[in-house]
Amino acid sequence: MTQEQKKRQAAEAALHYLVDDGYLGVGTGSTVNCFIELLAGIRHRIEGAVATSAATEKLLHQYHIPVIPLNSVIDLPVYVDGADEATHNLHLVKGGGGALTREKIVAAASKKFVCIIDDTKLVDVLGRFPLPIEVIPMAQSYVGREIAKLGGQPVLRPGFTTDNGNIIIDVHNLNIMQPAELEARLNNIAGIVTNGLFARRHADVLLVADGDTVKTIT
Ligand code: 5RP
Repeated sequence: MTQEQKKRQAAEAALHYLVDDGYLGVGTGSTVNCFIELLAGIRHRIEGAVATSAATEKLLHQYHIPVIPLNSVIDLPVYVDGADEATHNLHLVKGGGGALTREKIVAAASKKFVCIIDDTKLVDVLGRFPLPIEVIPMAQSYVGREIAKLGGQPVLRPGFTTDNGNIIIDVHNLNIMQPAELEARLNNIAGIVTNGLFARRHADVLLVADGDTVKTIT
């Protein structure tokens, strides 16, 4: 089975977590795009979707799935999103698609975060995938120096602007043995809007597709 097919397999498994007549948080990326395609067939079951990016909002509209601003939603029972890396204890690296800030907000606001990945993304220790960090443009150099002090190598994502008008710095070679501590430490650097570690508000359910089955990790 190809990686694309595995993504679809994971996306299919996430449909079981929908709450009828409830709102649904929808992440960003190619795995979530598979999910949105499948969701279209059962869109009447949900009240509406909260999108984590302009790209996701556009796709939801294309499939005639109603999009609701997060500010209009009090109860968000489920959030479905992908990840770039995940561990068995449900810690994630996200932001490969650059939507990490809105994803972190929607994850925080949701009751159950269902993360869908293919098995190539399941790792013992986070950090092989460079850690995305959303940064206010004027803070680029300062943040880069602070990251270097932590042992990481900051690389500006070329030609990329987030939906919030900021830049992304991808940090290579970080030691992520203690993800929750590093997440908090990075959040304290002035100029960083969000970092791609989802350890403090981690996934609640991880669905890992390997081609044969979808493993559920909770
Ligand atoms: C976007 C994300 C995505 O969830 C992550 O990059 C995975 O994407 P894909 O499903 O395309 O591999 O965090 O900001």
